[in-house]
Amino acid sequence: MYLRYFGDSVLRAKCLDVECFDKSLTKFAESMFKVMRENDGVGLASTQVGNNRRIVIVLPPGKPKPLVMINPVVTSKSESRVVYEEGCLSFPGMYKDIARPSEISVQYSDLNGQKFELDAEGMLARIILHELDHLDGKLFIDHLHWWARVVLTTQLRMKLIFNRG
Ligand code: NI
Repeated sequence: MYLRYFGDSVLRAKCLDVECFDKSLTKFAESMFKVMRENDGVGLASTQVGNNRRIVIVLPPGKPKPLVMINPVVTSKSESRVVYEEGCLSFPGMYKDIARPSEISVQYSDLNGQKFELDAEGMLARIILHELDHLDGKLFIDHLHWWARVVLTTQLRMKLIFNRG
């Protein structure tokens, strides 16, 4: 398992629901957590490690233990939005101001298939929304104005070409 970067088509994959809650799912989530920790991340989605199942892990601010969310669904979000600088492990060193709802409710299953509902606000809400976007093949740069996105993706693609030599 390794981290996928912008340019990898798997980051655009639409993920499918997890139906089997078995030991291999737990192992998979543990490996994801390892990748996230090694890269100093606060969240990671399955597409970022080349998988297309609806699995994200988030690290709630100030908490040592990650939250594994299987088949997460946002059930409500506030009208009020906040703009804050955001990054993504698949875009190393890049940070952009992104507007997102300030409060959300989300339903998800844990690794045993038990269902939970969570109300989140502030940074935790932002991390969850960012990771859930990944499950639909959506990236944080997709929230930028179209012209900003065009400039940025052109720069990123140029960088990819030059890095390949
Ligand atoms: Ni991300």
